[in-house]
Amino acid sequence: MSATLTTAERRLSAAYDAYHLARSRTTVVADLYAKAMGEHYPADAAPSSSLDLPLLHLMTRRLGLRPGDRLIDLGCGTGGTGLWLARATGARLVGIDISPVAVRIAAARTNDFVPANRAAFRVGTVRATGLPTSYADGLVCVDALGPAGDRGQALHEMHRILRPGARAVITRAISHTAGTRWRGQVQKAGFGIDHVDERPHEPRIWRTLYRLWLAHADKLRHELGDAQAESMLVEAGRMLPTLDQRRAVALTLQRR
Ligand SMILES: C[S@@+](CC[C@H](N)C(=O)[O-])C[C@H]1O[C@@H](n2cnc3c(N)ncnc32)[C@H](O)[C@@H]1O
Repeated sequence: MSATLTTAERRLSAAYDAYHLARSRTTVVADLYAKAMGEHYPADAAPSSSLDLPLLHLMTRRLGLRPGDRLIDLGCGTGGTGLWLARATGARLVGIDISPVAVRIAAARTNDFVPANRAAFRVGTVRATGLPTSYADGLVCVDALGPAGDRGQALHEMHRILRPGARAVITRAISHTAGTRWRGQVQKAGFGIDHVDERPHEPRIWRTLYRLWLAHADKLRHELGDAQAESMLVEAGRMLPTLDQRRAVALTLQRR
């Protein structure tokens, strides 16, 4: 671990440890993601996010990685996004996540995608990765950028670890009322905005998924335990009414 965690980060780490551990013991969560995404579900990546096949193909195109390039997956969870991209592009991967459980599971999945020497996973945060300056040729961050207050620090860290000219693809949900504040934040961190790819189908995925969670509440409780299931059900109840305001985008940023 590269930096001392704040109290909020310690809580986040413990919460995600519990989630990833519970999810690893059952297929129910993956099954419901598969149902919600249909033919776009990337079964081998098995994401805990809005990552679907169109997004993986988009990231491959936007990053423009060459074999041997260094790719960072920030907030990698159990590693599927970065491993899928490393396999598709020939890049070497470093995955970073705040959850030691996620990092352990990700490392154990490496051989399903690439030879062991092509991927490494370590515990770190989006604001303190512990990686050297100008280390990476590309970066992805899927649904892991955190709350608004933390985004500035995360963007500065991304800028620090990318070499000049390298690209990052990050997913964002921007509320329709948010205006263009996010542009200023990205530019202040030293990035140019290369592409803003709209993902208009994404709120539909979440709507379907959250309804599936609610419809399978008993099964989730049985398979994941009450505490974990409850936090998913609370998320579903809280997020469902907000989805009409959700503008989902994939931002491609270029480090100046
Ligand atoms: C919604 S999941 C997405 C995981 C993965 N990107 C995917 O697409 O499946 C968010 C992940 O980000 C990690 N995370 C959340 N906050 C973080 C932070 N501040 N620093 C590093 N990782 C973080 C969590 O542990 C979790 O694995």
